[in-house]
Amino acid sequence: MNRKQRRSQLRQQKSQTKKLKKVSQSARDPDKLMILGDQLIAARNFLAAADAYKRALKKDRSDIPVLRKIGYAYASGGKITLAIKCYENILSFDQKDVEAAKSLATVYHAIRQHDKALSYIKPIAGLLQDDPDMQYLLAELFDASNDRDKSIECYLEAIKLFARSNRKHNSATLARLARACAKVGQPQTAIDALNLAVQQTPEMPGAYFELAKIYNKLADTKNALRYTRQLLKLVPQHASGLYLYAGLMANKGLFHQSGWAFRRLSHIFPEASTIKHFASTYLGIKTEIAVDAEYVADLFDDYADEFDEHLVDVLKYQTPARLTSFLVTASKENLTDLVVLDLGCGTGLCGSHIRPWAKKLIGVDLSKGMLAKAAEKNIYDALLLSDLVVSLAEYENELDLVISTDVLIYLADLAQVFAGCVRALTATGIFAFSIESTNARLPKLDKSGRYQFSHRYIVDLARQNNFAIRAFENTIIRQEQGQPVQGALYLLVKSAA
Ligand SMILES: C[S@@+](CC[C@H](N)C(=O)[O-])C[C@H]1O[C@@H](n2cnc3c(N)ncnc32)[C@H](O)[C@@H]1O
Repeated sequence: MNRKQRRSQLRQQKSQTKKLKKVSQSARDPDKLMILGDQLIAARNFLAAADAYKRALKKDRSDIPVLRKIGYAYASGGKITLAIKCYENILSFDQKDVEAAKSLATVYHAIRQHDKALSYIKPIAGLLQDDPDMQYLLAELFDASNDRDKSIECYLEAIKLFARSNRKHNSATLARLARACAKVGQPQTAIDALNLAVQQTPEMPGAYFELAKIYNKLADTKNALRYTRQLLKLVPQHASGLYLYAGLMANKGLFHQSGWAFRRLSHIFPEASTIKHFASTYLGIKTEIAVDAEYVADLFDDYADEFDEHLVDVLKYQTPARLTSFLVTASKENLTDLVVLDLGCGTGLCGSHIRPWAKKLIGVDLSKGMLAKAAEKNIYDALLLSDLVVSLAEYENELDLVISTDVLIYLADLAQVFAGCVRALTATGIFAFSIESTNARLPKLDKSGRYQFSHRYIVDLARQNNFAIRAFENTIIRQEQGQPVQGALYLLVKSAA
């Protein structure tokens, strides 16, 4: 059906509903009103239907089937209070009316009054053992009131009942149930339910996505990829699926494939700098080696508020303390009255260690958010919003110490940094920094999007820039996903001419 036909069909439906409504308003006969009410329900005019049923009720106010219909019409038309009144009315005539209790529980669940919903459904739970909808509702209600054991029991029961019944909406409900099972730590049951769902309805993107997520959580990359592929075959622009696929591919070291997924994502989210960054770095199509300043600034602006706590407490980041004590041990110079430039100063974690030795401490960073946090510490004489290479170029033979912790990892090439440092430092100046390590000879892009450097690469660059390596030490930079990140600390001084 094309748009024109659809529009004409809608117009016809509208005029039919209008006629129905008019007829029902003048009708008197209860039987006729009931038929009109049903027709209005079919036309989705729920409130007009409720009105027709109500007028049919006039003779016998305790007609339970009619009251049930009114309740349903009100609930479907969004008049929840009126629906509740109607169902309660039924219970006032017959306290044991299971259907009314079920309806009340469903309505209260919909408006998130879970205790109230439970109060109606609990007394009749024994009668609902074969009803998958009610087992599901019970599971949801127990889940909402944090009764995990009971909720799992009911979810499992509901899955069993749904699997046995041949209902039309079976697959969608199974997928919902599976999500609930995954949530309560029953991945295998969730997988079984989802497999059942896709057997019945093979074109079900949501189920494939759910399966992929569950397998990913179980660290079963093969199956996670299998279902992500199925999902993307059905919905090639599924953003969360593309994210998942990009992450799985990067984890396998297949950066190019990951890059293609990021490229597709960048068409969906053209403004997202992180996506753009990963697309271009993974596809190896960066137009220049320089930092992706927009990506770094966005990343750290978002991270600034929780940076200190997260990095130090969660990721066990100790690099500033390690590098500064390394500096004390390995320096022959007197560490007092120094003019210091802190490259990528961030929130000032490194600056706090250096402050006691500094006559002048300058911090430079690309992220406004990080600089604002550094300013709160009140330890810097100046804070500059700039790229570190640009900032270095401002100095010539002036700095006693250039320090940089956990920053060079955001650069694909350190040649300009080394050249800038050798020019900016005094004859006895020191360049102290940390890196993340690799054995690969050339800088290596890690799946994290950060760069790793080899000792050989640093030695070569030092030599090319007339630096001597005064000391270096392998170390653990921080933890990532519970694993140590291997790195190294370096102290470079200018070679004697
Ligand atoms: C992981 S944080 C480390 C901050 C600080 N040095 C520390 O040890 O806590 C990295 C910082 O480097 C900054 N950064 C990365 N690339 C930069 C660049 N090219 N120029 C200036 N700052 C940069 C980021 O904005 C971020 O604040």
